[in-house]
Amino acid sequence: MKIMVLLLLVTLPACLAYNATLGWQTLLQGPPLIIANGGSSGMFPDQTDPAYYDAANSSKIPLAMLCDLQLTKDNLGVCRTGWNLSASTNLTNILTNTSVPSTYVIQGVSRTGFFSVDFNLTELNQTTAIQQNPARSPDSDGIYPILTPEYIAGGANNAIGLFFWLNVEYPSFYQQHPGKNSLASYLTTFLKAYKPAYVSATEVGILKLLQLTATRTQTYLVLKFLDKTAVEESTNTTYGAILSNLADVATYASGILVPKSYIYATRVTPATTGSEFGYFVDGASTLVQEAHKANLEVFVYGFANDVFPSSYNYSFDPVFDSLSYIGNSFQIDGFLTDFPNTASEAINCYPEGYVKAPLASRGASKSVKNPVIISHNGASGDFPGCTMAAYVAAINDGADYIDCSVQITSDGVAICRENVDLLPNTNIFSNQALYQQYVATYPELQATPGVFSFNLSYADVSTLKAVMYSPWGKYLVSRDPSNDGVENILTLDDFLSFAKNNSGIGIYVNLQNAYYLRTVHNLDLVDAVVTSLTKANLTNASDKVFVASEDSSALAALQNLMPAVKTVYVVPYSAANPYSVTPAVLQEIKQYANTVSIDWRLIDPLDTFSGFLLQKTSVVSAAQALNMTVFYSFLSNEFVAYARDYRSDPILQIYSLISEFKLDGLITDFPSTLYNFLNKNYCYQSVGGQNISMSTQNYPIFPVAPVSPFAMAPSPALSVAEPPVSYLVPTTSPGGPSIAPGPSANPSSATKLPVSLVATVALILILTFIL
Ligand SMILES: *[C@@H]1O[C@H](CO)[C@@H](O)[C@H](O)[C@H]1NC(C)=O
Ligand SMILES: *[C@@H]1O[C@H](CO)[C@@H](O)[C@H](O)[C@H]1NC(C)=O
Ligand SMILES: *[C@@H]1O[C@H](CO)[C@@H](O)[C@H](O)[C@H]1NC(C)=O
Ligand SMILES: *[C@@H]1O[C@H](CO)[C@@H](O)[C@H](O)[C@H]1NC(C)=O
Ligand SMILES: *[C@@H]1O[C@H](CO)[C@@H](O)[C@H](O)[C@H]1NC(C)=O
Ligand SMILES: *[C@@H]1O[C@H](CO)[C@@H](O)[C@H](O)[C@H]1NC(C)=O
Ligand SMILES: *[C@@H]1O[C@H](CO)[C@@H](O)[C@H](O)[C@H]1NC(C)=O
Ligand SMILES: *[C@@H]1O[C@H](CO)[C@@H](O)[C@H](O)[C@H]1NC(C)=O
Ligand SMILES: *[C@@H]1O[C@H](CO)[C@@H](O)[C@H](O)[C@H]1NC(C)=O
Ligand SMILES: *[C@@H]1O[C@H](CO)[C@@H](O)[C@H](O)[C@H]1NC(C)=O
Ligand SMILES: *[C@@H]1O[C@H](CO)[C@@H](O)[C@H](O)[C@H]1NC(C)=O
Ligand SMILES: *[C@@H]1O[C@H](CO)[C@@H](O)[C@H](O)[C@H]1NC(C)=O
Repeated sequence: MKIMVLLLLVTLPACLAYNATLGWQTLLQGPPLIIANGGSSGMFPDQTDPAYYDAANSSKIPLAMLCDLQLTKDNLGVCRTGWNLSASTNLTNILTNTSVPSTYVIQGVSRTGFFSVDFNLTELNQTTAIQQNPARSPDSDGIYPILTPEYIAGGANNAIGLFFWLNVEYPSFYQQHPGKNSLASYLTTFLKAYKPAYVSATEVGILKLLQLTATRTQTYLVLKFLDKTAVEESTNTTYGAILSNLADVATYASGILVPKSYIYATRVTPATTGSEFGYFVDGASTLVQEAHKANLEVFVYGFANDVFPSSYNYSFDPVFDSLSYIGNSFQIDGFLTDFPNTASEAINCYPEGYVKAPLASRGASKSVKNPVIISHNGASGDFPGCTMAAYVAAINDGADYIDCSVQITSDGVAICRENVDLLPNTNIFSNQALYQQYVATYPELQATPGVFSFNLSYADVSTLKAVMYSPWGKYLVSRDPSNDGVENILTLDDFLSFAKNNSGIGIYVNLQNAYYLRTVHNLDLVDAVVTSLTKANLTNASDKVFVASEDSSALAALQNLMPAVKTVYVVPYSAANPYSVTPAVLQEIKQYANTVSIDWRLIDPLDTFSGFLLQKTSVVSAAQALNMTVFYSFLSNEFVAYARDYRSDPILQIYSLISEFKLDGLITDFPSTLYNFLNKNYCYQSVGGQNISMSTQNYPIFPVAPVSPFAMAPSPALSVAEPPVSYLVPTTSPGGPSIAPGPSANPSSATKLPVSLVATVALILILTFIL
């Protein structure tokens, strides 16, 4: 047995095994290796010092540092990915106004550009790395020099638990450039001097050439597979053909490096518009089992938290994605990833994988008081929001509360819809008669035309079906459309009776635009909600019910009509008119509600230019100092939905928020992700007596505090009080005849919002919702 195998086994605590009885089902029976693709290349330009240090700091060991080899004119190595040096490297310092690009044939294709073989190392040492992926932060571009394999291997060899992995993407090309046999000559010398743990190559020929040296230097040789139909140059056969004879591969390699699609084939759904924004994966192939039988390790490449489009099967959660490669039926031997910390979490923290959590099976294994999970329009990340499918999923996914965002029809029927505008979340556009009849523009609600629920009768609404709404659609990250046009629009009564049939589930009813609807359209959401809750007998103190609104007047009326029901003040967000939520504002809010639901941008504000966090606010602790309950609104898994600080990893965001803010509840589009974090993440809290540190190296994995805090511009305090408005007395209300328009407190007139400003706030709310 090779020394490295022993190392792998001794450096890891036994408790990491997926099944403590069986142990890891990898070929070496240790936890999968993490291979950092050029370091933390998701965060920093790849193959630079900060990228490698960050990977080492934020990942579990064993960890391999991968370098993509390119040869220079003087037959030395540099670590860059891709033949096109301009894409990864700032060449300003070495190109002159007379530099001309060269043309070479690489993997059978003629390519024109700037190639490493046209420069010597002294020249390339004057260049700097740039981020190749435009979705990632360019903040560190042009700062860090590019590195050599010798430098990185030297560093890895001197660190415990770190290995060096050299990948050769273009063997045939470098066997001919800069000179004949240049690759074999470079690699033979390199292997002897640096004994890299792994060398992978896309060609059989070079691996066979290296076999003898590799045996002596105890280097694992790995064949990297490209597309199954692509031709492997040294054998002139397709990768698919090579794959069909793994026993032969095992004669010259000890492992294979394959794309994710070799394990889970992707299936693009052709039918629906927009389906190109995501795809499904088919059931797993048996490749891992077959390779293990042939005594080959299986390493998988293509893991990145911000790949786009991504698979709907994993609900935009990269940890969930990774877990599907280390499940019960097989476990891969290594993850090649741009986000090594995320693979670390999957391996270290979720030994049981993700689970479903229907009400009946929810255990009491929590050792820490957890925040409550409140769905956001049901499990709206996976199903069209506010539909039966979304609510059923929310309950099965572990939500403690399911929610209805209440809108109202022209004839006063309360319905559950994500937004007052039915255009983005129903199929009304495909009913052109109805659409043409009702399309309208309400500048006070949104700038673009819409079809507004308050204009349609319930009879009209009931002919519609729900469609998926993607809050991050402006970044072209769209949710699964495959259930579009299937689900009915629910009334609040439908919702309440469904909830009552699932005893134990909490109810969160959020009245949207109550003040606007009452004052502008003479429609009374408060009346409708009180009527429905009363009819459903859900107005007792013992009921698990929250009623929320962004309008203090509505909350005051609700308090009067249903004094036992808990109210929630929804603190809105306004990009155009920023305001601050001071302790005095919270004190005022407390007259209407003991619970606040706070927009995420007020808790964790972003610098919209860089995408990184600004200085965090103290609004949560200020509210908690007043003994108020604080809900966070709202969580989305999509990487474009939160700060870059969280490494495109929704688990890191959740961990950061919960550990920093001690939130009482989180409102989420993806209850499953949150449930599994709270109940199945052994690194967050002990589960069944087992506790695992989220980082095996005692370095903090999480950016719980922003990297470089910016000062926030001071903004005026939020105005809570509203001009007097009277909501109707519901006919079924047992109570008295009149409803006080406002709270007992008398806020100074200066803090009262003029109606136009109320409208502006509403407009901004809608806009931010739509965008
Ligand atoms: C672990 O493996 C053992 C032996 O196959 C099996 O009996 C046990 O149920 C497994 N445990 C879990 C949690 O899957
Ligand atoms: C990694 O950790 C080392 C040692 O704690 C520290 O000096 C370095 O700044 C860290 N690097 C990054 C990129 O976080
Ligand atoms: C090489 O990369 C640069 C920078 O991304 C790009 O502008 C250029 O078009 C690329 N060249 C080729 C031939 O792809
Ligand atoms: C190229 O740069 C040199 C000096 O750096 C200058 O003399 C020459 O005019 C430039 N040529 C062109 C075509 O710009
Ligand atoms: C590298 O190339 C530059 C420019 O052609 C040349 O001046 C220098 O001498 C070369 N250095 C080495 C070490 O070959
Ligand atoms: C690159 O230049 C730096 C100084 O700028 C030097 O320390 C380093 O050794 C050089 N690297 C190589 C490979 O020449
Ligand atoms: C590239 O390098 C030049 C010279 O060092 C610098 O002025 C420029 O800002 C860099 N560009 C990028 C995108 O890093
Ligand atoms: C590769 O194989 C194809 C047929 O499979 C043949 O046409 C072609 O000439 C071969 N190329 C080389 C370089 O041998
Ligand atoms: C992915 O989701 C699709 C659609 O629900 C399903 O058909 C497929 O089996 C799923 N794939 C896996 C691996 O579960
Ligand atoms: C929508 O309802 C308002 C009254 O609330 C009415 O004034 C308006 O004409 C209606 N618009 C359409 C398109 O039906
Ligand atoms: C209403 O619910 C309460 C408990 O929440 C229960 O005690 C009461 O009997 C119910 N009333 C009716 C009429 O069902
Ligand atoms: C909060 O509650 C605690 C304990 O019930 C009480 O001592 C404290 O005075 C309360 N603080 C405020 C600001 O209401």
